[in-house]
Amino acid sequence: MTDVRRMAPDYQPYVAGTFRWRLALRPLDLDDWIQIGHDYDHEMDRKSWVLDNHHDTAVAVIPGVEPEAAEVLHSIVDHLVSLWPEWFEVRDGRVFNHHRGESFSLFPDGDGSWAEHPLSIAGRLVQEDLALLVERDGRMVFGGGSVCFPNRWDLTSKLGLSMAEVHAPVSRLNEQLEGPIDDFFARLSDERPFWRLGWGVLDTDDLYQPLDGTASVPPPIPNVGDPSTPDRLFLRVERETLRRFPRTNCILFTIRTYIRPLSHLADRPEDASRLADALANLPDDVADYKKITELSSTAQHWLNEVASGRNIGGPDTSISERTT
Ligand code: HEM
Repeated sequence: MTDVRRMAPDYQPYVAGTFRWRLALRPLDLDDWIQIGHDYDHEMDRKSWVLDNHHDTAVAVIPGVEPEAAEVLHSIVDHLVSLWPEWFEVRDGRVFNHHRGESFSLFPDGDGSWAEHPLSIAGRLVQEDLALLVERDGRMVFGGGSVCFPNRWDLTSKLGLSMAEVHAPVSRLNEQLEGPIDDFFARLSDERPFWRLGWGVLDTDDLYQPLDGTASVPPPIPNVGDPSTPDRLFLRVERETLRRFPRTNCILFTIRTYIRPLSHLADRPEDASRLADALANLPDDVADYKKITELSSTAQHWLNEVASGRNIGGPDTSISERTT
């Protein structure tokens, strides 16, 4: 069977200079909506583990979003089958993932109830986390998600909230972007999807980072100058897509998370310099929100060494394999 997986894209979205949150939305080529990587099995295994052990942390919905979630599920399945027919097939009302040896029902039971929520089924097919916006009482609210890899936020606390309310804990975000985000959603049509990138630096490569105490305790942060720094701090990039669906008017927000140790920048002084600059320019409240205050000086020190060419003879510069 053909292998549909591909290498991870080299996203480096941090920006040097004075900090501000950016919309930075770009038109999405629908062929590139879902990304299946070489780490598909690793991440789908991790998703299964999360769903088996922490289901209610990862899947939460408001009542009555099955119609929207079913439209999303069917669209994802159509997409997978049309792009990767070697792996995915629809037969007898079920989607088969031949690569994983799994199959899921695409329709509710005879009594109209779903054995598993359609948003949860959709999440079991792709590496992306899925967040659903639905229209209720004339406004778009957070209808729920299948989020196995949250970057230190809490899914259940967001249910039923507007975009501004969802983003309220993000320091300065509503101040700078509430209007542009609302305008964007008002204009978003089902014909023109978009995507954007977000980034952070973390002390762990574990994708599962909820805030409810069920994440593993991260290892200690290396001290400034510790030569193991580039293997113990990680660039975490989120590739997010936004797409509206015509039948139920819902919007799906997908989040595909890419994590690499800082060592992948060891021979890239310009990127290292830009990341050091972006970290140095984060206001304290934003660095606190991103939870990088404690590790920032260690990361900046190593990145500045790379930028100035003083990193020669340092640790192994190859991209190391993830351990979790
Ligand atoms: C134009 C659309 C959007 C923009 C520009 C945007 C921007 C952002 C930014 C900049 C952050 C901070 C992330 C960081 O640490 O760097 C954030 C956080 C977040 N966003 Fe959005 N976002 C958008 C749409 C959405 C949608 C549609 C959802 C969900 C349906 C969503 C859910 C969240 C959540 C849950 C957080 C974390 C909040 C927390 O920490 O409590 N966002 N967003």
